[in-house]
Amino acid sequence: MTDHLLRYGVPARLIHWIMALLVLGMIPVGFLMVREGLDRSFQNFLFISHKNVGVLLLILIIVRLIYRWRNPPVLDPVALPKAQEFAAHATHIGLYALLFIMPLAGYVRVRAGEFPIEALDAMGIPALVPRSEALAEFAKAVHFYGAYAIAVLVAIHIVAAAYHGLVRRDGIFSRMWPPVGPKS
Ligand code: HEM
Ligand code: HEM
Repeated sequence: MTDHLLRYGVPARLIHWIMALLVLGMIPVGFLMVREGLDRSFQNFLFISHKNVGVLLLILIIVRLIYRWRNPPVLDPVALPKAQEFAAHATHIGLYALLFIMPLAGYVRVRAGEFPIEALDAMGIPALVPRSEALAEFAKAVHFYGAYAIAVLVAIHIVAAAYHGLVRRDGIFSRMWPPVGPKS
């Protein structure tokens, strides 16, 4: 049942794992950096890392979505019952949506509040949204609730991946692993 299930292409796998590592760092760093009582310079370091890595994630998700649109995965999860296939698709769509919404909301929150994004400032890239307290507050709320939503979806996704990889051993996990290597 499993030997004909092709892996994702190298670009899709590589970008999946780079983004996975970065997002797995961004979520705890985000929750940590807004806590009271942190050492000031440590907190600044966390904020600067979070904002700049976040912008990199915004670029990566755009590249990833364009790549996926141009190269739809030729995969046919024949081994999966319909309900599981639906759950997997729904989770993936939710993840893609949040992988776009989270960095975008973070960017708007920061730029509408007229705060720096060091890497963009160093390259002379101006803010793409106007200064607006209302817009900054809206984006902050989206970013805040989105943070919990993406944390939940990532947790479900990792449990599902572990279930396929360790319990069912049905070849689903090896469609995305290893990050580079042959396609089948
Ligand atoms: C923040 C972390 C992660 C995010 C945002 C994420 C996101 C995604 C997305 C959006 C897809 C759908 C790919 C597509 O069909 O276009 C996917 C597939 C996949 N992910 Fe992740 N992922 C993360 C972490 C992980 C981890 C830690 C594992 C393994 C333990 C994993 C294993 C997989 C596997 C096996 C697939 C392929 C599923 C299939 O072929 O149906 N992911 N991931
Ligand atoms: C996938 C990307 C991102 C994830 C998963 C993420 C996650 C988080 C989390 C979990 C928090 C703490 C919850 C909260 O208090 O709002 C947070 C806060 C924050 N994030 Fe992000 N973030 C991402 C991208 C960005 C980007 C691109 C920026 C800015 C360029 C940014 C700026 C901020 C700021 C300024 C806060 C503090 C919110 C406030 O209290 O004003 N984030 N983020």
